[in-house]
Amino acid sequence: MRTELVKGIDWVGGIDWNVRDFHSYSTPRGATYNAYLIQDEKNVLIDSVKAPFADECLERVARFLPPAKLDYIVVNHAEPDHASGLPALLAAAPNATVVADAKTQELLKSYHPNTPMKFQTVKTGDTLAIGKRTLAFVEAPMVHWPDTMFTYCPEERILFPNDAFGQHLATRVRFVDEFPHRDVVFEEAKTYYANIVMPYGAPVAKALAAAAGLDIAMIAPSHGLIWRRPEDIAAILQCYADWKVTRAKPRVIVLYDTMWESTAMMAEAIVEGADQPGVEAKRIWVRRSDLTRIATDFIDVAAAAFGSATLNNTLMPAMAAALTYLQGLRPQNKAGFAFGSYGWAARGGADAAQDYLSAMKWDILREPLKCKNRPTAEILAEAKAAGKLLAERALTAGAQ
Ligand code: FEO
Repeated sequence: MRTELVKGIDWVGGIDWNVRDFHSYSTPRGATYNAYLIQDEKNVLIDSVKAPFADECLERVARFLPPAKLDYIVVNHAEPDHASGLPALLAAAPNATVVADAKTQELLKSYHPNTPMKFQTVKTGDTLAIGKRTLAFVEAPMVHWPDTMFTYCPEERILFPNDAFGQHLATRVRFVDEFPHRDVVFEEAKTYYANIVMPYGAPVAKALAAAAGLDIAMIAPSHGLIWRRPEDIAAILQCYADWKVTRAKPRVIVLYDTMWESTAMMAEAIVEGADQPGVEAKRIWVRRSDLTRIATDFIDVAAAAFGSATLNNTLMPAMAAALTYLQGLRPQNKAGFAFGSYGWAARGGADAAQDYLSAMKWDILREPLKCKNRPTAEILAEAKAAGKLLAERALTAGAQ
């Protein structure tokens, strides 16, 4: 496996072929935890790995130098997928200084209270001379935790942005241009953004502004493949610029859960109404999808309807989970309404769903559309008309 980014800088991370659940994010293609070894007058490891992959990382480092010869370990982010392997690495590299910002240090001490660490504190604007190369640091809080930092090597024009620009994708190749399915890389980058980064649009904007001032020949994230072709770097930067504002395309989603098919009948009528020229309309039964895919769909959807039959006077559980997850991810600039059936409760699933849309500050296109027991022909006609409202909004938003 080829690991060289440039002469003297190699990937030495871990490949997690089997992970399928990354704190509730489904990862059907596995993941990698990327660490990078820089050999210079000072030997530096950029980031660490998840604890079960520490031996794999150390074995890769040992192909180039004894781990005890590491002078610095830069920790850009203390989340355990990157730093839980740090105690094992420090045991093998006892002379290494941990280079991190103040927030990362606080987290590392909290997660690893029994691991002695020698710290060098850095902040935005600081640099570390390691020989013929320099490392420069840019704090990028909330991309993805408060501690996150980017490291940049100006002599090689390589940015190590940790989580940003990553993808959950286990592969034997290391570069986007070596992977035979470019569309899959972007699909996984979008999934990653939706499920990890989406709530932090403003911090992403700041981080992108900082990155824009750098001369970048390579973006080496902490997950997945490395971006190095100019067209790939430009494309992923443009994607982030669009995703950070969850820019809408002319797309409509009707997401629903149903008990005895009444809400499904309404969903079908709504999607039929939304199926207008120039609009991509789709219906998703929440129990036949998963939260990770649903969140990804919501980055660039323009308008959506959320339907739930009434169960115990409120939402069905899968719809409650989907709405709670989306509320946390905070997709912006969206419009929609809620719908659903009920039997006897005055307030039920549709009202509860509409409450979520209000809480997310979505533009509410109409009052909840409800039916008692089975939808009548009149209700289905109203549902179809409501679907047209979604399509109109999608066409307007998608044109902007
Ligand atoms: Fe890949 Fe926020 O950790």
